[in-house]
Amino acid sequence: MLEDVREVLITSEAIQARIVELGRQISADYAGKRPVLIGVLKGAAMFMMDLIRAMDIPVEVDFMAVSSYGASTHTSGVVRILKDLDASIEGRHALIVEDIVDTGLTLKYITENLIVRQPASLRICALLDKAENRRVNIPVDYVGFVIPNKFVIGYGLDYGEIYRNLGFIGVLKPEKYEE
Ligand code: IMP
Repeated sequence: MLEDVREVLITSEAIQARIVELGRQISADYAGKRPVLIGVLKGAAMFMMDLIRAMDIPVEVDFMAVSSYGASTHTSGVVRILKDLDASIEGRHALIVEDIVDTGLTLKYITENLIVRQPASLRICALLDKAENRRVNIPVDYVGFVIPNKFVIGYGLDYGEIYRNLGFIGVLKPEKYEE
């Protein structure tokens, strides 16, 4: 796997250090509350587990899965729910935990879908933000790192379902992308 990586964009140490900061900030912002963190499968699973360990307030976790790009590196704009939340979020403080915001289309769909369930509040935490590629205006409340407009892999992010188990965020060698 490592031989497929052209460049390490964010080291494992930098990711973990930033998550500690995010965990502190989110714990302070939700002090006295018991938020439900909603992880978007599969990409955000690793981030979610590290993030909750960096928090020192009671939290609940739930997951939803939406359709992604498949083996392509470009969004289709069409999003489908593959797995819904286990529990109701009505009256709850809900925090969506996402791996990466690119065009914003996925999060736009998810927030529109969740807001009608009448949570007490709904915020977004994303580890990575490709801000320059945004197509829809979506407020991201907590951002780990703003990154350039490159297709990245590792730390939960895949290309064709592999590379999720790398501890860092990297860019693949160009010949690895089938485009
Ligand atoms: P958006 O709808 O364009 O904002 O894309 C969001 C989703 O696309 C993320 O949840 C990822 O699953 C996927 N995605 C976007 N950019 C990347 C990338 O650079 N690497 C891997 N997956 C990505």
